[in-house]
Amino acid sequence: MDWNLFINKMQAWYDANARVLPWRENHDPYRVWVSEIMLQQTRVDTVIPYYNRFMERFPTVEALARADEATLLKHWEGLGYYTRARNLQKAAKTIVEQYNGIFPENYDAVRALPGIGDYTTGAICSIAFEQPTPAVDGNVLRVFSRLLADDSDILDSETKKRYTQMLAAAYPLEKRGDFTQSLMELGALICVPGTPACERCPVQTMCTAFKDGTQELYPVRQAKKEKKIEQLTVLMISDGTHLAISKREKGLLANMWQFPNVPGWLDEMAVQENLTDMGYGVRKVAKGKMVKHIFTHVEWQMQVFHCDVERVQAPYLTEETALPTAFRKLLK
Ligand code: ADE
Repeated sequence: MDWNLFINKMQAWYDANARVLPWRENHDPYRVWVSEIMLQQTRVDTVIPYYNRFMERFPTVEALARADEATLLKHWEGLGYYTRARNLQKAAKTIVEQYNGIFPENYDAVRALPGIGDYTTGAICSIAFEQPTPAVDGNVLRVFSRLLADDSDILDSETKKRYTQMLAAAYPLEKRGDFTQSLMELGALICVPGTPACERCPVQTMCTAFKDGTQELYPVRQAKKEKKIEQLTVLMISDGTHLAISKREKGLLANMWQFPNVPGWLDEMAVQENLTDMGYGVRKVAKGKMVKHIFTHVEWQMQVFHCDVERVQAPYLTEETALPTAFRKLLK
């Protein structure tokens, strides 16, 4: 990736094509901050009238800090996610009390304010303070997954981390806020989900997905992993009085009590052999139910065998045995 070329193309395109938006009139951190909070969960077109009304009624961080809650919420009514408004005021009070009403410039100080995550911190610090701090959201992930024809799962936090680091190292020396907004703008206007408008894209010649004609394959969202299925044969070994248990040695539920079991589905003959190997005098073996148990990443399919033996060896199941649900359900 030729970052100088990329930045030059993006800046020229942004200069000529950026939408005129009320929070772009100047780079006052208060105005930038409020816009980024409103834009967190709401579309640009919806935000504009709210933003203008809000700025008229609460033009400064002091005005916001002083506002009574009813008035504040009235100005947020219809935007939804009201926690945003409450956090906005909480942060405004912090700024007035701890920072003398001056919006902090330090990345960590901004990040620590209520309602502000990585994305919003990156946006504020670059747009208001010209810092080389990327703001990586779904739009930016989509843009770069196409540019690089990158198959990484964009829902994976590692992917976001990697893009953030890559971008942080590539930030221009000038007009950093514009660079941040140019990436947002490209994602919003050109490199849109589904079919992007590549014919109007300023970085078309640098885009691997465009070259390959695979724009619509990006970004990749990993389908939920299928659960791994494990087959087990579980032996309910009883002498009419006691039921045998054993300690699970490794894997899932390691060190927990269990009913003796072996991997795979055994037939009756193989069960008989296992019992003999364990030292049991076998009276009768009967195939029982098939029981499923679902863990986060694994599904157990347990074939139960009821094994009637002469005398069960300790340990036995007692009232006190802490038996995981996966096995306890076999008692029903
Ligand atoms: N979405 C989030 N931040 C934005 C910004 N500054 N301009 C346009 N859309 C945005």
